[in-house]
Amino acid sequence: MGVQYSKLLLQLLLVAFFIAATKTEPPLSKPNCQQKCGNVIIPFPFGMTEACSLNTSFLITCHQNLSPPTPFLQNFYQISVLDISLEYGQLNISLPVARNCLINNLTGESVIEMNLGPFHLSSNQNKLIVFGADAAGLVYNLENASGILYPTIACMSVYAPAASAPDKSCSGTLCCETPIQQRLSEFFYESSTNIFRRNNTKRLESYPCGYTFLVKDGAYKFHITDIFNLSTNNKFPVVADWAVGTHTCQDAMKNASSYLCKSNYSECRDAEVGPGYHCKCYSGYRGNPYLSNGCQDVDECNEKTHNCTEGSICSNSPGIYSCSCLKGYEGDGKNNGTGCRPKVSSSRIIIIALMEELSQATNNFDESMVLGQGGQGTVYKGILSNNRIVAIKMSRISNPNQVEHFINEMILLSQINHRNVVKLLGCCLETEVPLLVYEFVPNVIKHLHNQGQSLKLTWKTRLQIATETARALAYLHSATNAPIIHRDVKTANILLDHNLTAKVSDFGASRIIPLDQTQLTTLVLGTLGYLDPEYFHSSQLTEKSDVYSFGVVLVELLTGKKALSFERPEAHRNLAVHFHSSMQEGRLLNIVDSHIIDEANVEQLMDVANIANHCLRLKGEERPTMKDVAMELEGISVVEKHQWEKINLSSEETENFLKAIPSSSFSIVDGVNRRSINSGSNILNRISFSLSGGR
Ligand SMILES: *[C@@H]1O[C@H](CO)[C@@H](O)[C@H](O)[C@H]1NC(C)=O
Ligand SMILES: *[C@@H]1O[C@H](CO)[C@@H](O)[C@H](O)[C@H]1NC(C)=O
Ligand SMILES: *[C@@H]1O[C@H](CO)[C@@H](O)[C@H](O)[C@H]1NC(C)=O
Ligand SMILES: *[C@@H]1O[C@H](CO)[C@@H](O)[C@H](O)[C@H]1NC(C)=O
Ligand SMILES: *[C@@H]1O[C@H](CO)[C@@H](O)[C@H](O)[C@H]1NC(C)=O
Ligand SMILES: *[C@@H]1O[C@H](CO)[C@@H](O)[C@H](O)[C@H]1NC(C)=O
Ligand SMILES: *[C@@H]1O[C@H](CO)[C@@H](O)[C@H](O)[C@H]1NC(C)=O
Ligand SMILES: *[C@@H]1O[C@H](CO)[C@@H](O)[C@H](O)[C@H]1NC(C)=O
Ligand SMILES: *[C@@H]1O[C@H](CO)[C@@H](O)[C@H](O)[C@H]1NC(C)=O
Ligand SMILES: *[C@@H]1O[C@H](CO)[C@@H](O)[C@H](O)[C@H]1NC(C)=O
Ligand SMILES: *[C@@H]1O[C@H](CO)[C@@H](O)[C@H](O)[C@H]1NC(C)=O
Ligand SMILES: *[C@@H]1O[C@H](CO)[C@@H](O)[C@H](O)[C@H]1NC(C)=O
Repeated sequence: MGVQYSKLLLQLLLVAFFIAATKTEPPLSKPNCQQKCGNVIIPFPFGMTEACSLNTSFLITCHQNLSPPTPFLQNFYQISVLDISLEYGQLNISLPVARNCLINNLTGESVIEMNLGPFHLSSNQNKLIVFGADAAGLVYNLENASGILYPTIACMSVYAPAASAPDKSCSGTLCCETPIQQRLSEFFYESSTNIFRRNNTKRLESYPCGYTFLVKDGAYKFHITDIFNLSTNNKFPVVADWAVGTHTCQDAMKNASSYLCKSNYSECRDAEVGPGYHCKCYSGYRGNPYLSNGCQDVDECNEKTHNCTEGSICSNSPGIYSCSCLKGYEGDGKNNGTGCRPKVSSSRIIIIALMEELSQATNNFDESMVLGQGGQGTVYKGILSNNRIVAIKMSRISNPNQVEHFINEMILLSQINHRNVVKLLGCCLETEVPLLVYEFVPNVIKHLHNQGQSLKLTWKTRLQIATETARALAYLHSATNAPIIHRDVKTANILLDHNLTAKVSDFGASRIIPLDQTQLTTLVLGTLGYLDPEYFHSSQLTEKSDVYSFGVVLVELLTGKKALSFERPEAHRNLAVHFHSSMQEGRLLNIVDSHIIDEANVEQLMDVANIANHCLRLKGEERPTMKDVAMELEGISVVEKHQWEKINLSSEETENFLKAIPSSSFSIVDGVNRRSINSGSNILNRISFSLSGGR
């Protein structure tokens, strides 16, 4: 019972699928009419019964006994149909080969008469071809013919030894071709050979026959061996025109009941030559304009035929589609338009006098509130009077260069609004000690290297961190006015919030590259172990330097090892180098973090490792762009999402974990005399600050 039930279910599903599948394809034939004969689709006005076709001229007979079943024009039994085009009002047919032989056992028709009824061979699209030694092919037009008939097209191919005849060109020896510049409908063609009546037995034995056939221009390429194995069964496509009606569009439209463009989304075009017209679906629609429901909207978005850039939203509507940019981006979203660029808010930073508050917020810049210390200053955790937790970065007063870094960071961050970039809430530059106020992000990623005492980052989380970081960097590199290069990409600068969302931080070293320059020459900055080797030598700054550093971060996520560690044996000190040699020797799994080996499948690890390897190419130009990297990682993440459940981490657990290990966004710890800053805290006369409300 169970088996039968599931069988039935399967059948139902198949039927449902079939309905769904056929529903998306607009019908090409009249309702209840067979749509295909063999491999050939027969669209109305053609049809395989009288009711299914416009009239008997468009009637098709399907010869089921042939393999594959082959359609023929009903009234003209010799003419098989290869293809019918609604778009061009043409059909490809094949006509028999006429053969004239001087050896009795080789028979064949040497004269073939054709009547295409209302159809015509398309002028200038077909050729007459003749094969043979001293053979001729002749075409006679029978339309309006009276009295003595003369050929209207002729071609002659004369004898030459096969060896001296040009191999591939059909130019008069053994083969002859000529264009057909007439619209033939009723005609015959004839083949004859040995037209000079030479008594040359050897030659006649070698070339006993002459052949004549019609073929679509470009559909046949001559080869000398064909002369010896051409048979009357060979088929060559010929293009013919068809049209409906006997009047122009203008006249035809006057009589709605006989007007044949039945679809509401279709238009009429006069046939280029001769009487009648064609119907066409409006642009953005597709199907059969001769049927009332025939033209249906093309869903460009689903079919991926749209021109919306990656990262924009494509929306389909009848006949048209539109592209729109994601929140935070602007532009027309089109590939050949402006695309989507990060939106630049003129300035999110509003200056508010607030002074005392920051001092209070950090408990007068108390040591217990220090989150981290670095080359550029100290970061404090602060709790504002509205209970909002912020991070406050205080410059080291001693170094005037630091002020420049601060201004740099402030200008950059005030232009950026991205969920994976740490948010600048306010700043203060007019004080002696510049301050920057950020959203507070508890940093958990550093514990990747500290697995003994910390949360094990799952493979899924690592992949997410990688993807989000790549996304943020791709965003920075595509900034509207000019690309922003971070210059100090490292795990320590990737913060994680409670939801394990990655946030790229520390833009002190970053640079904006004006659009008219592709690279800048600047002082080498960055962190050992992450530094682009090319940049190290050239001091040329490009986006590809960030790509390299990101590659190192990827390797860290894969291996759980630090980028640079003097505790490791010399050959393994530099992780990027170690990784590269492991990859080359096919020993990737030896260095992958054992914690994730069980979780991730090897294919994914390989994919990510390959991306990392690509990012770590010595030559910047060989590295992918951050956009490419982000897209590849997103692809892998999508697969990952379906494979693993979301991690279930309550905020309480995260909190406890965070308390256990102090967080820092700074990797270099240097001796900052915090007290001197403390004592000078009342120099904070005015503080620039704003609370732009969340995201
Ligand atoms: C029929 O002709 C069209 C247009 O000339 C061509 O694109 C198509 O390939 C042809 N089909 C066959 C079966 O020769
Ligand atoms: C025709 O006859 C000739 C000689 O009688 C023979 O060599 C040739 O094979 C025959 N051809 C065919 C197609 O039967
Ligand atoms: C045949 O005659 C008809 C009527 O006179 C004319 O419209 C048509 O163009 C002629 N066809 C040819 C091929 O001359
Ligand atoms: C053709 O040539 C052969 C000898 O090569 C000869 O026997 C024969 O009579 C000739 N036939 C004609 C019709 O001239
Ligand atoms: C003749 O034979 C050659 C070699 O087998 C083949 O490539 C060619 O297509 C044949 N020609 C025809 C017209 O069948
Ligand atoms: C069928 O219709 C076409 C155009 O609508 C016309 O040219 C042709 O003569 C018609 N054929 C018959 C048999 O009525
Ligand atoms: C319109 O077309 C129908 C069907 O072909 C025909 O019966 C009718 O006479 C035509 N009307 C006019 C005004 O030509
Ligand atoms: C086509 O347009 C006519 C008149 O506007 C309308 O009555 C008919 O329902 C439409 N048909 C379809 C298939 O949309
Ligand atoms: C996409 O743009 C190209 C060039 O601008 C155009 O030819 C093509 O039709 C467009 N495709 C769509 C689906 O709009
Ligand atoms: C966009 O424009 C460029 C040149 O202007 C052209 O080469 C490219 O094919 C176009 N792309 C699309 C999708 O239209
Ligand atoms: C974390 O995710 C929850 C649920 O999606 C959301 O409500 C909360 O605002 C997020 N917290 C942060 C800090 O983004
Ligand atoms: C997460 O864990 C809590 C407590 O263990 C449980 O109640 C909850 O259903 C879990 N949520 C998910 C999505 O698994």
